[in-house]
Amino acid sequence: MKIGIIGSGNIGGSLGRLWAKAGHEVFFSSRHPEKLDSLARQAGNGAQAGTTDEAIAFADLIFEAVPFSATMTLPVDALAGKILITASNYYPKRDGDIEINAPSQSEALAKKLSSTAVVKAFNMMFAEEMEARANGETEEKLAIFYAGDNAEAKAVVAQLIEEAQFSPVDAGSLSNGIYFQNEAPLYAQRWSQAEAQQALDKVEA
Ligand SMILES: NC(=O)c1ccc[n+]([C@@H]2O[C@H](COP(=O)([O-])OP(=O)(O)OC[C@H]3O[C@@H](n4cnc5c(N)ncnc54)[C@H](OP(=O)(O)O)[C@@H]3O)[C@@H](O)[C@H]2O)c1
Repeated sequence: MKIGIIGSGNIGGSLGRLWAKAGHEVFFSSRHPEKLDSLARQAGNGAQAGTTDEAIAFADLIFEAVPFSATMTLPVDALAGKILITASNYYPKRDGDIEINAPSQSEALAKKLSSTAVVKAFNMMFAEEMEARANGETEEKLAIFYAGDNAEAKAVVAQLIEEAQFSPVDAGSLSNGIYFQNEAPLYAQRWSQAEAQQALDKVEA
């Protein structure tokens, strides 16, 4: 699959490496693409680097891990018809005042990107865990929640979670992203798949 990474930092850099290793065509992007050459070389499997617009044009699936303020300015038309995994979290101190205008961060984004299949995932996991897997330092299977309203897109994302060496746990519709956005009960947890499912059942009860 052709994957475009927007924000090739702690999270995007490690996941891009894992997905390239799993055989995907990865295109890293940033506002400073000239700084991404070594990351692309390290990722291997022909990974490329360029601008955000180039990554979006290249890919069928976009993974974003930038500050939430930048997420909310992603180009609506260019992303139409694609899958977008959103991993960003909203921190007013960092991101400034943003009118969320929806019950959850992911729904606010999906409202804006109305022709894109938005799936929330990876935002609840520590960057260090992704880096450890990209570096081959651990094989521990930790759970990652994912939520979205498009079943086909969710199946693709579940597979990508597996390929990043985590265990996918389906949290249901995008509105359930509220359970694992920052400061919510399912956020920042190192759980097995069974523990995560149990915690999800409890929060939904
Ligand atoms: N770190 C964690 O443990 C963790 C865990 C879960 C979720 N998150 C969330 O995931 C997102 C990324 O976190 P991260 O730790 O990977 O951050 P990071 O290492 O700082 O990477 C973010 C990337 O976004 C780009 N960026 C920064 N400001 C931008 C802007 N205003 N517009 C466009 N691009 C911008 C930067 O690249 P250029 O400057 O080269 O463009 C940077 O490499 C954040 O929303 C964070 O809250 C982080």
